[in-house]
Amino acid sequence: MADQGFVSSTQAVPQTSAGPRHIAIIMDGNGRWARKRFLPRVAGHTRGVEALRGTITACIERGVEYLTIFAFSSENWRRPADEVSFLMQLFIKSLKKEVNRLHQNGIRFRVIGDRTRFEPLLAEAIAEAEALTAGNTRFQLTVAANYGGRWDVLNAMNRLLAQNPGITEVDERMLAAELSMNFAPEPDLFIRTGGEERISNFLLWQLAYTELYFTATLWPDFDAKALDLAISSYWGRERRFGRTSEQLGAGAEHA
Ligand code: IPE
Ligand code: IPE
Ligand code: MG
Repeated sequence: MADQGFVSSTQAVPQTSAGPRHIAIIMDGNGRWARKRFLPRVAGHTRGVEALRGTITACIERGVEYLTIFAFSSENWRRPADEVSFLMQLFIKSLKKEVNRLHQNGIRFRVIGDRTRFEPLLAEAIAEAEALTAGNTRFQLTVAANYGGRWDVLNAMNRLLAQNPGITEVDERMLAAELSMNFAPEPDLFIRTGGEERISNFLLWQLAYTELYFTATLWPDFDAKALDLAISSYWGRERRFGRTSEQLGAGAEHA
């Protein structure tokens, strides 16, 4: 896919607007939410889908244009087989149930990650949802499934090698154009729920200058109020992209 000309935070200073344009979320804490209620872990995943539905609506209402969520990491296959299987079935079920609503709301749906390991039913449901919503521009929902940041960079590199036999050097622009988020600006705000303060192999390349926000709120409890807390934390940040505070004060960000 072609590079759509989004500014790289390391190649130039991006113009940042007041609100976050792109939010990336690690939806963590479903298992603990369920355990606290003496429920099986998977009950937390089911509730997590509801939290996601509310978060999409809240993001649209707040003028966010891109929401990228981590649903299943390339390392999550290490979980017990019955939990993995439940998550895959939940993905299929939720997608089939929600796809029309996503489409009616002008939402473009995409999945990033290695699809080769998905069962055919899931792969088909994803392909159908992506095709149905391909023309939508109001809001971009991207689900990272069987995704890993290292996989993403290596996959991009391997594609470049395949397309350019004998190539000896790659620059940032070439690599970024092959990454799975090549259609979006870099995330402005990263949110991880559930209290852990780590990236867990999410968007390693794209988070270079993203503002990081961690909350103890467990994902099934995440709501519009919790989103507002994250966004107001973002508003309080000074995004310097390597420059000094004085330079920002002088309006140099638009220089
Ligand atoms: C996040 O919740 C959902 C997935 C990783 C699929 P967890 O299942 O990791 O919940 P905790 O971290 O065990 O509470
Ligand atoms: C990260 O959560 C992945 C998703 C939310 C899909 P995990 O719960 O799997 O992360 P770790 O293992 O605690 O780092
Ligand atoms: Mg977890």
